[in-house]
Amino acid sequence: MENLGTVLRIVAAKQTLPGALLPILHEIQEELGHIPPESVSLIAKELNLSRAEVHGVITYYHHFRQTPPGRHVVRVCCAEACQAVGGEALAEHARARLEGSDLTLEPVYCLGLCAIGPALQIDETTLRARVTPEKFDALIDALEAGQ
Ligand code: FES
Repeated sequence: MENLGTVLRIVAAKQTLPGALLPILHEIQEELGHIPPESVSLIAKELNLSRAEVHGVITYYHHFRQTPPGRHVVRVCCAEACQAVGGEALAEHARARLEGSDLTLEPVYCLGLCAIGPALQIDETTLRARVTPEKFDALIDALEAGQ
């Protein structure tokens, strides 16, 4: 319910903006870490949209999460330049390595490190280039050890 109060405040502040849905969803995720599924009806009602429309936008953009993130969010670049230098194998390796862990894996489409891919980002702060599966494991070992 506390979440719904936050959602309502954000919707009220932004609902008159043109194309208000996206900025509202971004701010909800920034504040709550995800878009709570129970907020979809509320957002739809306030913006005069159908629940399906709101849900469609949330699921269309990879950026939006419907469940709270893990302890850390690991984003592997899935854009073309990284894919061409091993990004796909890295993403596959990451999926297997992080399955069942409390870290969240998300795709991202370009981190601006295209010439030195494959690239990844950990939380909002750490960027890494030329990431091999071995380097990936070392990074994750460090994260899991709380470093
Ligand atoms: S394509 Fe991966 S960083 Fe640009």
